Formats: sequence, structure tokens, C-alpha cells
Amino acid sequence: MPSSPELRVLFITSEVFPLCKTGGLGDVSAALPLALRALHNDVRLLLPGYPQVLAGVKYKSKVAEFSALPQFPPTTLLSARLSLSKTEHLPVFVIDCPGLYERAGGPYMDEFGRDWPDNALRFGLLSKIGAILASDASPIAWRPHIAHCNDWQSGLTPAYLHFHPGKKAATLMTIHNLAFQGVFPPGSVVQLGLPPHSFSINGVEYYGNLSFLKAGLYYAGHITTVSPNYAQEIQSEPLGFGLQGLLAARRRHLSGIINGIDVNEWDPASDPHLAQNYSSKKLADKAGNKSALQQHMELTADADIPLFGVVSRLSHQKGIDVLIQIAPQLVKIPAQLVVLGSDQAQLEHLLAMLAQAHPGAIAVRIGFNEALSHLVEAGADAFLMPSRFEPCGLNQMYSQRYGTPPIVHATGGLADTVVDCTPQTLADGSASGFVFDTMSAEHLLAAIKRAVAAYHDKKTWQRLQKNGMAKDFSWHASATAYQRIYHSLIGKP
Ligand code: ADP
Ligand code: GLC
Repeated sequence: MPSSPELRVLFITSEVFPLCKTGGLGDVSAALPLALRALHNDVRLLLPGYPQVLAGVKYKSKVAEFSALPQFPPTTLLSARLSLSKTEHLPVFVIDCPGLYERAGGPYMDEFGRDWPDNALRFGLLSKIGAILASDASPIAWRPHIAHCNDWQSGLTPAYLHFHPGKKAATLMTIHNLAFQGVFPPGSVVQLGLPPHSFSINGVEYYGNLSFLKAGLYYAGHITTVSPNYAQEIQSEPLGFGLQGLLAARRRHLSGIINGIDVNEWDPASDPHLAQNYSSKKLADKAGNKSALQQHMELTADADIPLFGVVSRLSHQKGIDVLIQIAPQLVKIPAQLVVLGSDQAQLEHLLAMLAQAHPGAIAVRIGFNEALSHLVEAGADAFLMPSRFEPCGLNQMYSQRYGTPPIVHATGGLADTVVDCTPQTLADGSASGFVFDTMSAEHLLAAIKRAVAAYHDKKTWQRLQKNGMAKDFSWHASATAYQRIYHSLIGKP
């Protein structure tokens, strides 16, 4: 516990590492609150009580019951502790509502990849409990100054708070991905207990439906997104996904704060998932991970062939279709490719076919595997992220820290965190990867070829690796920026 907490913050999120993670939001929801607590803020998480959350937290105790919420099944609030390492813990509130959360499958979808039909209620409840705890209607003594909402799943919290007549916390809405908006039929407005007049263009309405995310963006005191570049991109088409007008109108209340990474969880010198630990001073030891990865994935054992890694949701956003297009040419360079990921069935199928067609050169593992994701970061020579758009992206930062230069499309946080390798950036010591401007198969392949040429020039490659490994991706600076926004929201200098 911080000794003299400056600010109390309720951090509302639908996933958190290591209990429940489908992507970067899970990582951020663990690491950012920890970094904010290190700055002496009393940050506590609010989470849905999925089975893996109820099973994974410690010291659960019941702190409140919510029986007067007619829209929702009976709900209990638990207080508990989430352990992140031997020395790091986060206090959490867990919403125990078996009617909405006790089921097999993922947080947003069932095991067949279909959205849960009652997601409006499931995340309406998360938003509602967030709003209650952040107001004078709260049944518990701990009252936050700030309700920090993350993505559409907690987007209704600022709306509920707006219509609450009593005392309430200030609100911050963080966009991790504008492509997911939580859009539900208009009847959900009344079903979720929002006032009917909120269903307007100046409110929660979005092209005739209710949008959780729009509600958050409209009513929150301030909006942040996860990189400065993405904060600009979403103010116009196409990356505004229909919300560009609102975001541009609120630009004075919109900031981009780049994500950090958990530098303890992602440290090649101590990572327990690696075959061999290494550091920039002992870079030669990275090779043990390449051969372990080749062996594990049944790729041809070859220390000298460039090996490209991918760990990703397999979706349109991530440009996996374009990667699939150029994969046969990548093999011809020659080079190897290893892909770990899951999501869209069609892309999973095409990747499996590629692996079949190129045994020993392309290996694909469909599924979510935290340990293997670390070995790919360490064992690959270079990392591919041809995202069409990328609010921030974490893997390009993990890659740089692991001496595995990333090849990225110049979009969102990728453009903010990777410096293209040119004679000039090599000379000034900033080069850390390969950046291509136009999203196309041709440009991706050209960037890969540039990387291969650099890879075969050992001195250049080592410089690139060491530049990336020396960069500071820790959360400290970004947590300080969030803290500054919290202060401005409650009128503190
Ligand atoms: P996004 O949140 O859009 O998926 P990010 O780059 O911010 O993208 O974060 C993705 C996170 O999820 C990273 O920590 C990455 O390693 C992890 N990840 C994605 N797919 C897998 C997978 N199949 N197995 C293990 N980890 C994965
Ligand atoms: C989203 C984005 C990703 C970002 C992550 C964490 O899932 O797609 O770019 O890094 O959230 O903020």
C-alpha cells in the first residue's frame, strides 16, 4: 500500500493479466495500475467475476450486495488481491454475478467465437457498478476521485455518472481500440436504466443504436488513447471509425499517452520462459533461443537463416492476410517464419495451409500461449507487425527489448515507437527496426528484404539490436502523464 495516497482511482477493466487476457488491454490493466501505485496513488481495479478471476484472486471478502438493480441478476461485490509476482500485488474489486459471468469460454465470446448474446447486460453491469462505486450512492467507504474507464466495456460509467444527481468522481475514458465500440439495439438504453432522452446524437446514440464507447467519449471528463500518433489518426477517416467528428470536437480533452511495457515480466535476462537468458552484453546467448524455437516448432535447424516471428490476434487489423500473401516469397529469400496466434477462422485455416505447404520453413501454432509468445520474441531474429492500424501495440516494444528488431507499418503507436533503419539513424544510434509507409504486400516484402540484407551484415544488425535493447519502455513516464491528467480533472495544480 502507498504510504500517503495522493489520489484514489478506480480502474475499470474487462481483462487483466495473468487471469484473463485476450490482448494488450490485459497487459496494460496490470502494469499501468502498478506503475501508478508506485507514484503513490491508491489505484484499485474493478473486474467482472469470470470463473478464472474468482479462482485466481486471493483473500476474497464480500463487501456489498446489490439487490436494488432491477435490470441485472443478483450481484455481490468482493474485495480481493491480485498477485502479479512475489512482491507485486493489486487490490481488486470483483463483481460476482454468476448469472452473467459464470460460464466457460472467453470474456467476450463463447468457445465458437460468437459474441455472448447478453454482452450489453454483462458490461452494462461492469459500467453500472463502476458508476455506483464512484459516487455517493456507493455502499462502501472507499471513494475514488477518478473513475478510469477502459474501452467500450466500461464506456457507460461516465454516462451513468453524468445522470447521477449526487457527488461523483471525475471520469477518464481510455481508448485502446476504436474498432470495438459495443454497439447494441436501441432498446438496450432503457433496459440498462439510462434515461430515454440520453438516446440522442448529444448522448449515447450512434447511427440509431446504443454505443457504449460513444457514451464514454461523449460524457467522460477527459479522453486518452494509447499513443500520440493514434490520437491524431482517430480524428479523421478512416481510423475514426465513425467517431472522428466527436473526437475532433473534443480534441482539447483528448491526449495520446504511449503505453509502456512491464519490464520485469518482459526481460530477456530473467525471463523464465526462455531456453537461455541473455542481455545486450551477452547477446550471443540469444542463439540458444533460436535453436530451441526451431526445434519446438519443427523448423529446419539453421543458425544462419533469418527467422521472422509473429505473435498476434489473427485479424484484419493486424494485416495477417497481407503476410499470408507474401509468405511464399519470404521462404524463397530464404528465410523462416513462425506464427503464434488465433482469432478469425479463415486466417487460421490459410496459415495452417501455408505451414503444410512449406514444412521446415513456415511453422504455425494456433492458440493463445503466453510461454511460447516469450520464446518467439527471444528466438526469432526479427518480428513482423504489418498492422493496418495499431493504437499502440506492445509486441514491437517487447521485440526491441529482446534484441529482435521489428518490421512495422507506419501507423499508430508503431510509428511512435520504432525508428526505421537508415544510414542516418544508424549513425545517430536511433535505428531500432524497419518501418514501411504504405500498407501493401509489395511494401511489406521490400521491408523484409531490407531487414534480411541488414541481418547478413553482422555489425549493422548488432547495432540495431543494441539500440532497441537500450530503449526505456518502462511505464514510469506514461504513468506520470496519466497522473497529471487525473490532477487536472479534479482541479489540482
Ligand atoms: P492487441 O491488444 O491489439 O491484440 P497488442 O500488441 O497491444 O495488440 O497486445 C497483444 C498482447 O497479446 C501481447 O502481449 C501479445 O504477446 C499477446 N498475444 C497475442 N496473441 C497471442 C497468442 N496467440 N498467444 C500469446 N500471447 C498473445
Ligand atoms: C488494443 C490495441 C493495441 C494496444 C492495446 C493496449 O488492443 O489494438 O494496439 O497496444 O489495446 O492499449
